[in-house]
Amino acid sequence: MISIVAISIVLQFCEAELPRYDVYAKETAYGYTGSFTRYIGNGPFPPDPTFFSFDIYCQTKDRIHIRFYDRSKKYMNIPNVLQISEVTKAASQTNYVFEFIDKGGIIIKRKDTGDVIFDTQTLRFDHPLILEKEFISLTTTTGKNSVIYGLGSRRSRYALKHPFNYTIHNQDRGTPPDDQNLYGSHPFHVEVRPNGKAHGIFFCNSAPMQVELQDGWITYRAMAGEMLDFYIFLGPTQKDVIKQYTDVIGKPALVPQWATGFHQCAWGYKSIDDVRNVVENYDKYNLPLDVMWADIDYMDGKKLFTTDPVNYPKAQFARFISDIKEKKRIRYVAIVNPGVKIESGYEPYESLASSGYYLRNRTSQPYIGEVWPGRTIFPDFFSTGGGSWWASRISKFVKELNLDGIWNDMNEISNFCNGECDEDGGKTKYAWTPGELDHHGVQSDAVTAAGPYYLTHSLYAHMENIHTIEGLKAVNSNKRPFVLSRASFAGSGKNNFLWLGENEAKWEDLRDSISGILSSGLFGMPFTGCDVGGFNGDTNAELLTRWTEAAAFLYPFFRNHRSDDSISQEMYAFGEPYTSYNRRFLQERQKIQSYFYTLMHQSHDEGVPIIRSLSMEFPGDSNCLKIDSQAMLGSALLVSPVLEPGAKKATGCYFPRARWYDYWSGAEDKSVEANEEEESSNESNEFRELNGVEVDLPADLNTIPVHIRGGAIFTKQNYVARRLMNMKDAPFTVIAALDYNECAFGYISVDDGESVDENGDCKKSAVRFQVTQRGRGKKGGRLSVSVTEVGYNSMHVLEEIRILGVAEEPSKIHFNDQRASSFEYDREKKILIVRKAYGGDPREWMLLKEFEMLWG
Ligand SMILES: *[C@@H]1O[C@H](CO)[C@@H](O)[C@H](O)[C@H]1NC(C)=O
Ligand SMILES: *[C@@H]1O[C@H](CO)[C@@H](O)[C@H](O)[C@H]1NC(C)=O
Ligand SMILES: *[C@@H]1O[C@H](CO)[C@@H](O)[C@H](O)[C@H]1NC(C)=O
Repeated sequence: MISIVAISIVLQFCEAELPRYDVYAKETAYGYTGSFTRYIGNGPFPPDPTFFSFDIYCQTKDRIHIRFYDRSKKYMNIPNVLQISEVTKAASQTNYVFEFIDKGGIIIKRKDTGDVIFDTQTLRFDHPLILEKEFISLTTTTGKNSVIYGLGSRRSRYALKHPFNYTIHNQDRGTPPDDQNLYGSHPFHVEVRPNGKAHGIFFCNSAPMQVELQDGWITYRAMAGEMLDFYIFLGPTQKDVIKQYTDVIGKPALVPQWATGFHQCAWGYKSIDDVRNVVENYDKYNLPLDVMWADIDYMDGKKLFTTDPVNYPKAQFARFISDIKEKKRIRYVAIVNPGVKIESGYEPYESLASSGYYLRNRTSQPYIGEVWPGRTIFPDFFSTGGGSWWASRISKFVKELNLDGIWNDMNEISNFCNGECDEDGGKTKYAWTPGELDHHGVQSDAVTAAGPYYLTHSLYAHMENIHTIEGLKAVNSNKRPFVLSRASFAGSGKNNFLWLGENEAKWEDLRDSISGILSSGLFGMPFTGCDVGGFNGDTNAELLTRWTEAAAFLYPFFRNHRSDDSISQEMYAFGEPYTSYNRRFLQERQKIQSYFYTLMHQSHDEGVPIIRSLSMEFPGDSNCLKIDSQAMLGSALLVSPVLEPGAKKATGCYFPRARWYDYWSGAEDKSVEANEEEESSNESNEFRELNGVEVDLPADLNTIPVHIRGGAIFTKQNYVARRLMNMKDAPFTVIAALDYNECAFGYISVDDGESVDENGDCKKSAVRFQVTQRGRGKKGGRLSVSVTEVGYNSMHVLEEIRILGVAEEPSKIHFNDQRASSFEYDREKKILIVRKAYGGDPREWMLLKEFEMLWG
């Protein structure tokens, strides 16, 4: 009894201490403005302001910008993240409504369902809104039993667990325990409510932060004071949310087509001869190879912008790179780190040190860290001089070595000292931090031109990548710059590409890579992948093959990479039969590259990911919400990789209700079809339990279960070449998989593969394919091909059309009004095949020609 009384007194005492506000709001042309006036209480690190303002901008019918701030203060501008300008006029016809509660807060609701999307009522869950100098916090509501994705980057399951505190702060941690903060900062999440509706929230802040996820609420806490800035996206589908989010942070950059091919890297190619050997072996074993990578082996004493005089002499290295590019069409990318070794006479150090454009410590001296070459200073990418210093050196380096791209590593910034290397300076104490900030990093009290390091830290790589691109553009202004980065911030995807950092040669790492790729897609960074085979530790033949299979279909960025103390893991390293298995998947990847590439265009235009969760593609099926061991390539292909050693099947694969076809044979797969009786639609609930089926799929080591979704149309090129760029224009096959209504839809886009204009766009052409029924009473179907965009003059040949799931053999086929001389029908698999060789088509079988094909 006594203790209960004591607790309630403590609670009352705490409550009395919490700040409470009077809320005042008035309508404006852009939305609302108003203020919070504190009438009692204080936050944890007083003084608290007695008064602060807010503005609500109704930017579009589905997007709100809401900001709490002190009008008398100036705030650090987060560079290059927001791609939109503020509105002066509110959108009309919004899908949301507001409520302002006196002595309460602001509530934002979905107009149609009344779902509360955002709710700042200050005493909710005893977590009031706090706007102090060194600590800010806001709690808002989430739905009960919602599923939440995002809040990266980290290694975790795709659907985030709760209760949990997610730290967001760029950090190099090797392979950390699950759910810890990693290389990138993406304070964005997507929430799917039990009614199936999705919305997203972007907390626009670069400070170290923590997001606490509970069932029913979410709390944001950040180190930087005095302003809270949010963008809210109403969806209502996950795809809508990502489109709306990437409208704000920018659409993903166009990838050069060669980069969608296969890449080989290793830390441990000790000399040019080593690399030459690898290239020759790839040719010898007839394995496709598009890009070779240089890790830090090539450097002289691991120093930036140098080459090893013995093993990688500059002139020879440059000649080797030019040679394989001209003779073999192999591209080359080299690693770069931001740390500049402190060494007198070393030009990069001398010039950076004398320029003053370096990161400084709190006494304004050069900040000294330790990276691969030893003690280093770091360029300050936030100073214009630091940016151009970097860009000019990148240009020079790229020209000297004839490189095709730059790989920015260690750019969190990673620092082998946990903070300052000579611990004589001590550390600044902060009122609140979301845990340890300088683990393997730079001390938080360092200073950049844009502001204190703790506020700019997570943007450092973002700025480095921008200046790297400037350097590449100075060499080749009309080619798409290829920059791969380890660290990132919200919006980095419009500039550079990403890999998921260090992983291990373990089955769990293969499994977790799928979640990582799905999350990157939400963050507007769809062109990503992780090290195939695993980076740390020794891989083995089986794991490498399973990894290659999965990556061929699920890694937009497809690179094999290992550490210097791991055994070799090139695709031929384990001999037969593995080399043949790996070859099969490298070649299959080439055959579907036009589909990958079309999806990359779609990402660039709309923002939707290339690799998608089942829940994104089947929003009506709540069984899909937590699936992260299977994923979809676009809307067309469902990939179910084998993720366990010794397995002869992929276990527990889920198939949402749809008509599915086996990718390898083209025949309908009845074993993954949900039968009609299982449907338990709940009319009172919009989110219908559509009940697909869960099955184990046979999968010997030389295959991977892949299914084509009925209703999809995609393209293939049934050719193989050593280089993707040699086959990218090979003749096309169009594959249409009929759904239960005998309809299908899809499109392809083509361009020259590498040009880009000053807005980051390209001239492309696009063709749309649609299959419909012929109409009442008529048997058969109609494929309509229409050209929807003509920007690139393609000479691509169409050589084959395959319609999957054609129930009966047609008696004749017409192209427009002309009868085709012949066609094939596979009775067993129910596939209709029409080929160029059969002639008959007036449009001469060009990919970009409109026509109609009728069968019946
Ligand atoms: C998250 O951290 C805060 C302190 O910042 C703490 O009060 C809270 O209990 C933590 N929540 C969880 C779920 O660990
Ligand atoms: C700042 O860096 C200089 C070296 O550039 C070092 O001598 C000094 O101790 C550092 N100051 C602090 C406070 O860490
Ligand atoms: C339908 O859904 C509602 C809301 O989730 C639930 O309360 C109800 O029990 C469901 N009915 C059936 C028949 O499953």
